[in-house]
Amino acid sequence: MSTNSFDTKAAAWDTQDRIERARVWAQAFLREVAPGPDAVVADFGTGTGLLSQAVAPHVGEVIALDSSAGMLAVLQQKCQAGGLENVRYQHFDIETDTLQPAMCDVFISCLTLHHLRSIDHYASTALGALKSGGCALVIDLEEEGGEFHEDHAGVHHHGFSRVALEQVFADAGFCAIRFQTVYHIRKKSRSGTERDFPLFMMLAYKPAAEV
Ligand SMILES: C[S@@+](CC[C@H](N)C(=O)[O-])C[C@H]1O[C@@H](n2cnc3c(N)ncnc32)[C@H](O)[C@@H]1O
Repeated sequence: MSTNSFDTKAAAWDTQDRIERARVWAQAFLREVAPGPDAVVADFGTGTGLLSQAVAPHVGEVIALDSSAGMLAVLQQKCQAGGLENVRYQHFDIETDTLQPAMCDVFISCLTLHHLRSIDHYASTALGALKSGGCALVIDLEEEGGEFHEDHAGVHHHGFSRVALEQVFADAGFCAIRFQTVYHIRKKSRSGTERDFPLFMMLAYKPAAEV
């Protein structure tokens, strides 16, 4: 496992702001997707598992996936401390690894897509990992002109156009794609001014298999 830039951020990742926003995202997910109590949720780019922790009490199982060994080590400590018996974590790099087909009912990623080189590859990976009728949920930045991150290393997209992202997911085979604004992050921009960065939540469904 090679070191990645998130390894060094892992120990200090769980700030009050990040815990709070994961709680808000989890509520939006539970409200909009209404997963059943047996649902299997994959949290791709889980980081230290903040969303996984917030979602776990409401679903059957959470599979927390990330390419950072440092982030997963923090999540492992939380799991060992107890109370997250239905959270399973797995080292997974979307650029090199593959997932078991139809492994989950919901495939989530929060603030991870902009770190990926290929969104086409992400959409086809999510489609393959979902069961028929399952839901992909993406929370990420609206187009932000390169102002969100101070350091652009490892940042492959400066947010997303909703129209362009919808097209990528439709081309991959998803249907019933819809967006809503789910959060605003207020922080100092790269050029030094304090501003709001809106986040969208996109829901996209894998068509149900015909019987
Ligand atoms: C900005 S963090 C978001 C973490 C978490 N979702 C949260 O909101 O607190 C992005 C995460 O994506 C992971 N990541 C980046 N590239 C990845 C890849 N190629 N495969 C899997 N995970 C990746 C990073 O290790 C990091 O934990």
